[in-house]
Amino acid sequence: MSHFFFFQDIGSLNMKDKLEALLGEALSELGAASTEEGLQELRVKYLGKKGALTGIMKGLGSLSAEERPLVGQVVNTVKGKLEEAFDSRAVEIRESVKAARLSAERIDVTLPGRRRAVGSKHPITLVTEEICAIFAALGFAVAEGPEVEHDFYNFEALNFPKDHPARDMQDTFFVGENVLLRTHTSPVQVRTMLKQPPPVRIIAPGTVYRCDSDATHSPMFHQIEGLMVDKGITFGDLKGILTLFISQLFGSDIGVRLRPSFFPFTEPSAEVDIACVICRGKGCRVCKETGWLEILGAGMVDPEVYRHVGYDAELYTGFAFGMGIERIAMLKYGIADMRLLFENDLRFLKQF
Ligand code: FA5
Ligand code: MG
Repeated sequence: MSHFFFFQDIGSLNMKDKLEALLGEALSELGAASTEEGLQELRVKYLGKKGALTGIMKGLGSLSAEERPLVGQVVNTVKGKLEEAFDSRAVEIRESVKAARLSAERIDVTLPGRRRAVGSKHPITLVTEEICAIFAALGFAVAEGPEVEHDFYNFEALNFPKDHPARDMQDTFFVGENVLLRTHTSPVQVRTMLKQPPPVRIIAPGTVYRCDSDATHSPMFHQIEGLMVDKGITFGDLKGILTLFISQLFGSDIGVRLRPSFFPFTEPSAEVDIACVICRGKGCRVCKETGWLEILGAGMVDPEVYRHVGYDAELYTGFAFGMGIERIAMLKYGIADMRLLFENDLRFLKQF
C-alpha cells in the first residue's frame, strides 16, 4: 500500500481509522518477518523518511488547527507502538537466528572420540628392554658403539690378527679398507675399556651385520654384549650372573649348561645352552633332538685384549658374554622362522 493513498483523505476524521489500519497492517507484516533484513525493509516502509507514517505526518499541515493536535497525538501513539513492536520483533528474530545456529552447530561432547590405532613394540625391542632391565638391576650400565666400525675395534683389538682363520667365523661386510659393518657388539668392549679405567660393568645392545641368510640367520640382527672387569672376578662370577639372568628371563626351572668353546678374545671360553623351551629337554625338531639350545657365547677376557686397551692384566680379571637377541625372542615367543621378525607383517607384529 502506498502512502500517497493517505494524502487524498487528509482533513477528515477517518484519518484516525487509517492510522489504526496502518498500525494493524504493519503489526501483522512485522509478525510474519523472519529475518533481520526483512524487518529492516519493513522499518523503512513504515517508519523511513519516505515511509507511510512520515507521509501522514507531512499531511498534518493541511489539517485544521483543532484537528491537528488530535491527529498528531494518534500519530505519535502509533509511531511509539510501531517502534516498540519493531524493537521487540528484532530481539525475537535475533534470538531465533541464534537458536537455529546453535542447534545447527551443536556438538555432542558425550560422543566417544575417534581413537587412533596405537602401535606396539617390536618383539626385538621388547626382549632387548627386558634383558637390559635384568642387567640394570645387577648394576650394569648401558653402553653403545657405531655400526660402521674400524677393523681395529671389531677384530684387531679383540685378538683377531690379520689373516687369522677365526675371522672367517664371521662373514663380514666391508665398507672400505679397514672399515666394516660390525659383525658383533664386542667392539663396544674395546671402546669402553679405552675410555675408562676399571672397574667396568656394562651391557651393550645393538645391531650387527653378517653376510648370512636362512631360517635361523639374518644379514642384519641384534646382539647384547656384557662386560665386567674388576679385581678378583672369576669364572664363578660369570656362571653365577648368567644363571641368574637366564632364570629371570626363562624361569627358574629351566636347565642351564656351559660348554667349552673358542673365541679369540676370551680364555677360557664357553657357549651357554638352555634346556629346549619347546620339549623341556626331551628332544624335538627345534633343538635338533639334543634337548639343548645355544643362546650365548662367553668367557674370561683374554689378557691380549687388556694389552690393546692398556689394562693391567696382572691386576684385573673379568668376563664378557654376547647373545643373539633374535634367537632369544624366538625361544621366548615360540617363533619358528627368524625372517618373520623382519618382514613387518602387521598380523604377526600385532600379537606382541
Ligand atoms: C659372537 O658374536 C661373540 N662376539 C660373542 C661373545 C661375546 C663371545 C663376548 C664371548 C665374549 P657368535 O658369532 O657365536 O659370537 O654370535 C653370538 C650369537 O649371535 C649366536 O649365538 C647367535 O644367537 C647370534 N647370531 C650369529 N649369527 C647370526 C645371524 N646371522 N642371524 C641371527 N643371529 C645370529
Ligand atoms: Mg656361535
